[in-house]
Amino acid sequence: MHNVTENPGSFDHSKAYKNWEVDGAYFGDGREVALLKYIYNHPSLNELRGNPEKILEAIDTFARTYTGLINIGDAKGGIVSATIAEHKPTTVLELGGYVGYSAILFGAALKRAGGKSYYSIEKDPLFAAVASSLIDLAGLRDLVRVIVGTGADGIQILAKEGTFQGDRAQLGMIFLDHHKPSYTSDLKLCERLGLVGPGTVLIADNMILPGNPPYAEWVRASVQEKKVQDEAAMTPEERGNPNLQYESQFVKSFEPSGMVDAMEITRCVGIEG
Ligand SMILES: C[S@@+](CC[C@H](N)C(=O)[O-])C[C@H]1O[C@@H](n2cnc3c(N)ncnc32)[C@H](O)[C@@H]1O
Repeated sequence: MHNVTENPGSFDHSKAYKNWEVDGAYFGDGREVALLKYIYNHPSLNELRGNPEKILEAIDTFARTYTGLINIGDAKGGIVSATIAEHKPTTVLELGGYVGYSAILFGAALKRAGGKSYYSIEKDPLFAAVASSLIDLAGLRDLVRVIVGTGADGIQILAKEGTFQGDRAQLGMIFLDHHKPSYTSDLKLCERLGLVGPGTVLIADNMILPGNPPYAEWVRASVQEKKVQDEAAMTPEERGNPNLQYESQFVKSFEPSGMVDAMEITRCVGIEG
């Protein structure tokens, strides 16, 4: 089953981030360390300590004043936070943590909802270090853990450590916001490991900018259609669990720059067979 939520509402352009692109770079040109220094030199640093909302406001102010950051921002972020409040997951897995904006926003939402663990996997060790420092400042160290590695590496590291047992045996939510071609393979890895089941919510960012047809095809397909796709797989890594029944919604919203983007919000509603 697949639904489309067309109306993204309106965007307050006075809150728009600066352009991401600076001299051909979108990230990784020193802006992440500049953000860290900006936060730790903030005149109200003591008010930021233990206060996720104030840290997010300070990150937003940096990105509106100096240079854009590839954060989810408050429009799309608000939709994810509301989904956490509604579904009350125990465990959330994030793929693509960048400087920790989404981990702080959703980690705080998870804490309010009574959740226990937020795992944020980030490939770039420098971004992961910035994220860890800001998560610590936000007072979320006991709930949010940053793992350095690709999505696939991080999931396997957590699985080998025995993380996914007891009330963590199934993930309550997976937030996919990393390497776009890896969304489908990393979701299928989670499916093969048994981490997705009835009640799991998948939220995939950037479904317009730039879009992700293979991922959309998998989460919108029926069990029968997925069985056909799975049987055609050339390698074990291309296989998921086609028996998982998904209901999926394409939800439009805004990038922090004001551009229209969408997330795919998918609920696992059962297992066939
Ligand atoms: C759009 S940013 C994430 C933004 C973050 N979720 C937020 O809203 O604050 C994408 C991040 O994914 C990371 N990344 C890229 N490929 C990855 C991979 N294969 N596995 C994990 N992280 C990856 C990038 O280094 C970058 O920090």
